[in-house]
Amino acid sequence: MIIKRFKNYQDLSDFAASDIANSIKNKPSLVLCMASGDTPKLTVDLLVKKLKEEKIDYSKITFIGLDEWVSLPPANTGSCHYFFQNKLIGPLELKPAQYFLFDALADDLQNECKKMDEFIDEKDGIDLMLVGIGMNGHIGFNEPGVSFNNLSHVIALDETTRSVGKKYFSEPVELTKGITIGFKHLLNAGKVFLMANGSKKAEVIKKAVEGPVTDNFPASVMQKHKNGFVLVDDEAASLLSKPH
Ligand code: PGA
Repeated sequence: MIIKRFKNYQDLSDFAASDIANSIKNKPSLVLCMASGDTPKLTVDLLVKKLKEEKIDYSKITFIGLDEWVSLPPANTGSCHYFFQNKLIGPLELKPAQYFLFDALADDLQNECKKMDEFIDEKDGIDLMLVGIGMNGHIGFNEPGVSFNNLSHVIALDETTRSVGKKYFSEPVELTKGITIGFKHLLNAGKVFLMANGSKKAEVIKKAVEGPVTDNFPASVMQKHKNGFVLVDDEAASLLSKPH
């Protein structure tokens, strides 16, 4: 795992967007898995801009959405679906065969997990994953206590996730479960970027990077990845004790 530190959110996002764009240039059939949320917002916008302005051929990429709130309709502006559709799939006009997002309204959520795992297998795994970190150390909806061996799964949301998650919604919603890609996929991914910015993430970044590797703090899984990068701005890196 390598830690890369940037002056601010803009520089961090610029780096991630450029790296993803270059990865698509080098491998036009790149399989990209991304988180929604506040952290990757600017990266996604910059990536779409770069791909278009630099006329990079993205017609063969595959996109995978990391997670979704169970029971939320895709039209809800706080859903991950809405984020991906409006910021990436729509603007890039990806064809339905080119992406897979969890259907959080499916009657059979186990089958939805199976469909995701099969989709990833058919594509020969994820090449590049971009994730954030929650205030309880989760990645996607891999909540504290989750096994590092999980494939896609449905999980009860931790209290922190339920309360912090309210920030995405304009109306009150009941957040109880999540459906998410598991750490087996993350550990098998060719490259992983975990991004964090702002002082509110300083404590969780310190634990993820310098704390013990434990399922009680899921983001510590990054320490096990052979090609994992933790991208942080100065504020998020402010509590790290070792120089990075
Ligand atoms: P955020 O969410 O990017 O909105 O801070 C991070 C997460 O919960 O994974």
